[in-house]
Parts: sequence; C-alpha cells; structure tokens
Amino acid sequence: MVRQHVNPLSAFFQQPRPLAPPAELFADPARPIHLDIGCARGRFLLALAQEEPQRNYLGVEIRRALVSAAEADRQALGLQHLHYLFCNANVSLEGWLAALPEGLLERVSIQFPDPWFKKKHQKRRVLQPALLLAIAGALAEGRELFMQSDVLAVIEPMVALAEACSCFERPAEDARPWRADNPLAVPTERETYVLGQGLPVYRVLYRRNANPLPPLPELAQWWQERLQRSSDSPAEAANP
Ligand SMILES: C[S@@+](CC[C@H](N)C(=O)[O-])C[C@H]1O[C@@H](n2cnc3c(N)ncnc32)[C@H](O)[C@@H]1O
Repeated sequence: MVRQHVNPLSAFFQQPRPLAPPAELFADPARPIHLDIGCARGRFLLALAQEEPQRNYLGVEIRRALVSAAEADRQALGLQHLHYLFCNANVSLEGWLAALPEGLLERVSIQFPDPWFKKKHQKRRVLQPALLLAIAGALAEGRELFMQSDVLAVIEPMVALAEACSCFERPAEDARPWRADNPLAVPTERETYVLGQGLPVYRVLYRRNANPLPPLPELAQWWQERLQRSSDSPAEAANP
C-alpha cells in the first residue's frame, strides 16, 4: 500500500540522496529537460514524453513506491528520454539543478503539489525559498516555471514567493490572477480529477527574466515573516 502522505521534514526524508546527472539518465543528454516536481505515479510525464518526444523528462517524487511503479511503466515502453527519481525535492534537487549544464533546463512544473493546507504545516510545502532560487538559477532567460493547484491557500503563497524573488515574469497576455488554461499538452491525474468534479484550477506560468538571483537569506527572511503574518486558511478550520 502506498502511503497517502509522508512528512518531508522527518529525519529519513531529510537525508540527501545524490541524483544522477542527465548523462546517466537519458540516451541523448543534450536534449532540453522538463523537470516535474512531485510527479506522483508519473502518468502525466509518461503521456507527455510520448506526445512531445523532442525533450528529456525527469519526474521527482518523495513516495518511493510511486517512483518504482512509474519507472516500471517507463521501462515497459522502453522510453530513454524519461526518468523518475525518488527524493525529497527540498533536500536533493538543489545540487542537481546547480550542476546542470547551462541552458539545458527548459521547463519546471509544480502541479497540485501539497497536501499541507494547514498553517502549522506550511514548512512541509515543497516550494520554499531555497528550491525556488535553485530553479531560478538553473533556468535561462525565457525558460518556464509552470505551477497549478486547486487549493488557493497553497498556490497563493507560491505565487507570492515567485513574485518576491523578482526573477520571473508572467506572459503579458496571460489573464490575472490566474491563467485561463494549461499551456502543457497533457493534464495531470489530479487536474483531470479536479476538473471532472467541476472545481476550479488556479494556474500561473512564469518565464525567467534577466534579473540576478536575490540573496537567499533575504528571501528566506521575507518568507518567514510572511508565514508568521498569514492567517489560518479555511481548510484549517474545516480540518482541525
Ligand atoms: C497531490 S500530488 C499531485 C501529483 C501530480 N503532480 C498531479 O498533479 O497529479 C503531490 C505529489 O507531490 C509529492 N511531494 C510532496 N512534497 C514533495 C517533496 N518535498 N519532494 C518530492 N515530492 C513531493 C507528493 O508525494 C505527491 O505525490
């Protein structure tokens, strides 16, 4: 049985896991990479990798059993431009991103990322200042960060952090506060479920601008202060 959630802050998930470089993951490591953070069972990337085979795809996921199942699907199809890795993105991804050859990362997606709606669990959420700066540091100007969620209390802080970092712009033509549609060719499993229920999905597409990265301590302090200020979400009241 696959656990519903794991606590990314527990000692086990805080252990760093070295992630293989593109040359060890893909048959043609020179292709641009789409990185999907929190890929779960991996069916979104499995479909996208077949629909748009021109790039390499990496999915990272903290629940190991899901990664094993996703890898089995990939291997059954013999796909050499797709890989799934087990890790805590907040612990192991920063080094991998920093070591990428310049210009290789084309797009990062973070989709329906967190089960942690409560204020007291905000530290468990995946998009934290260090990870965002690692993503911004690895994306060349014009390259994309796409984020979506069905939970406003989850997506709003992600957007606030991306704006505070000042390294990203939204396409001028995109609707505010939320983009009208998904720019990716394939919906995720969670997205399909949410849309099937007739519920809204909140989406934002960012492109890396030319600004230098802000210092991590400054962004982390801003984030800390924001967490302190933020009031409990309605979800917390509903699920005490
Ligand atoms: C609600 S699911 C959504 C899965 C998929 N992106 C979708 O839209 O269908 C969020 C996934 O992110 C994973 N996740 C959460 N925190 C993570 C972390 N720190 N590192 C890696 N994966 C994480 C969870 O285990 C879960 O599988």
